Amino acid sequence: MPLMSALKLRRSTREYADRPLSQQTLSDFLWAAFGVNRAGGKRTAPYWRHIMVIDVYAALADGVWLYDLASHALLPHLAADIRADTGLQDFVGIAPLDLVYVAHGERMTDTPPADRRLYASVDTGFIGQNVYLYCAAESFATVLRGAVDYPRLGKRMMLPEQQFVTFAQPVG
Ligand SMILES: Cc1cc2nc3c(=O)[nH]c(=O)nc-3n(C[C@H](O)[C@H](O)[C@H](O)COP(=O)(O)O)c2cc1C
Repeated sequence: MPLMSALKLRRSTREYADRPLSQQTLSDFLWAAFGVNRAGGKRTAPYWRHIMVIDVYAALADGVWLYDLASHALLPHLAADIRADTGLQDFVGIAPLDLVYVAHGERMTDTPPADRRLYASVDTGFIGQNVYLYCAAESFATVLRGAVDYPRLGKRMMLPEQQFVTFAQPVG
């Protein structure tokens, strides 16, 4: 689909079917979101100061997986279905995939804590828009979400103290 057509169709949706995504679709989603698109490991989205701050996690029915950019593979993170804990709206537990964006605060060394969330959120916004456009082009539903119980989700994902969730995004 031409970019202009995808932009015309981009929208937030809050109603999901629980139909699982195929492996190929999942792969395409993650690559569109923040995959490597050039030699040198650079990505489909721009990022703060050439420092890889954001990890993309995929919360699926069969567990939580970390998207490994170098190998374009999902690494097992947690063997639990935490989709319902990724947000405060009921559809999050129904969508087959909830993307959870996690920032490595510890990599943002000379940056005060308030600015860390700011820059990590901007990085996430670009990734989120890639997902929106992929959804528009391929007829999937999505919505970027800040309505998240952050301490609870951080604990549920067993994130180290310096890492924090920026946003989450169901897809289906
Ligand atoms: C930073 C940010 C946080 C958002 N958080 C939520 C959320 O928690 N729940 C929700 O349903 N929509 C959320 N949205 C989606 C907005 O409500 C939506 O983009 C806006 O109403 C415009 O609608 P549209 O995306 O369909 O054009 C968020 C959007 C952004 C950019």
